[in-house]
Amino acid sequence: MTARILDGNALAQKLRADFRARADALAERGKRPGLAVILVGEDPASRIYVRNKVNACAQAGLHSERIGFAADVAPEVVLAKIGELNADPRIHGILVQLPLPGHFDSDAVLKAISPAKDVDGFHAENVGALVQGHPRFIPCTPYGVMQFLADSGIDPKGKEAVVLGRSNIVGKPMAMLLMQANATVTVCHSQTRDLTFHTRRADILVAALGKPRFVTAEMVKPGAVVIDVGINRLPDGRLCGDVDFGPVSEIAGAITPVPGGVGPMTITMLLANTLEAAERDVH
Ligand code: GUN
Repeated sequence: MTARILDGNALAQKLRADFRARADALAERGKRPGLAVILVGEDPASRIYVRNKVNACAQAGLHSERIGFAADVAPEVVLAKIGELNADPRIHGILVQLPLPGHFDSDAVLKAISPAKDVDGFHAENVGALVQGHPRFIPCTPYGVMQFLADSGIDPKGKEAVVLGRSNIVGKPMAMLLMQANATVTVCHSQTRDLTFHTRRADILVAALGKPRFVTAEMVKPGAVVIDVGINRLPDGRLCGDVDFGPVSEIAGAITPVPGGVGPMTITMLLANTLEAAERDVH
C-alpha cells in the first residue's frame, strides 16, 4: 500500500483563499487586522519561523510588526512591550515566539498577553477554555492537524488516536482536540514503556516529539493516518520530520510530508486566528 500524501501547501492555499478579502473588509471599516510577533534572541530556527509568519501576514493583507529583543533583555522590558501591545488598537494578535531564553518565566510572559489577543492559544485562561470544550483560540499546529483530518474526510470518531509528545504547544492541545472529536486518545512521551505497542494500535498517529525519523515503519499500523509535526534539520542541512517518511509511506493509509505538510498549516491557522480576533473586535 502506498499512502495518500496530505499536501499542506495545497490545503493552506485553499484555506487562505478568502483571507485577503476578509482582511480588506475589515480595513474598509478602519480595522486592518494586525499581528505583533515578539522574538527574543537569535535562535536561527525561531528567526525563520518569525520571518515566515511576518511574510504570510503581508501576503494575506494583514498588518504585522516584528519586535526583536537581544537574548539578554530583562523580562520586565518584554512584559512592558506586551502591555503596550495589549492596549494598541492596531494589534489584534500577539505572539511570543518560543522557546524563550532560560532567564524567562515563559508562563508569566504568556499570561501577560491579553487573552483576547492570544492568537497562539497559550494563555492559561485560553488553555482552560479549550479543555472545557469552548475554545477562544485553538493553538495553531493542532488546529492545522484537525483541518487536515476534516479536509481529507477522516473522522476521528471512535478511532484510536495516539499522540507522541506532551508539549503545551502541540501534544496536550492535540490530545484534547482529538478527544473532543470523539477519538480514544493515548498520549505517549519519553517515559512511555513499549512505545511500539501503543503506536501500532493507532488509526491516527500524530508525531510531535522532535526526533528526526523516529517513527519507523514497524511502529505503524497498516492503513493508519500519520501526521508528522516534527521539523528537524539533518547534519547535511536538509529538513526532515519525526517520521521515517519513505518506509512509513509504504505502510500508512495517509501521511503528511516534511516539508510541505503541517508547517504551512500552522501559519495558516495563525492567520485565521488573527482574522478571527480582528472580526470579534469589530462585532
Ligand atoms: N515555537 C514553536 N512552535 C511555536 C508556536 O506555534 N508558537 C510560538 N509562539 N512559538 C512556537
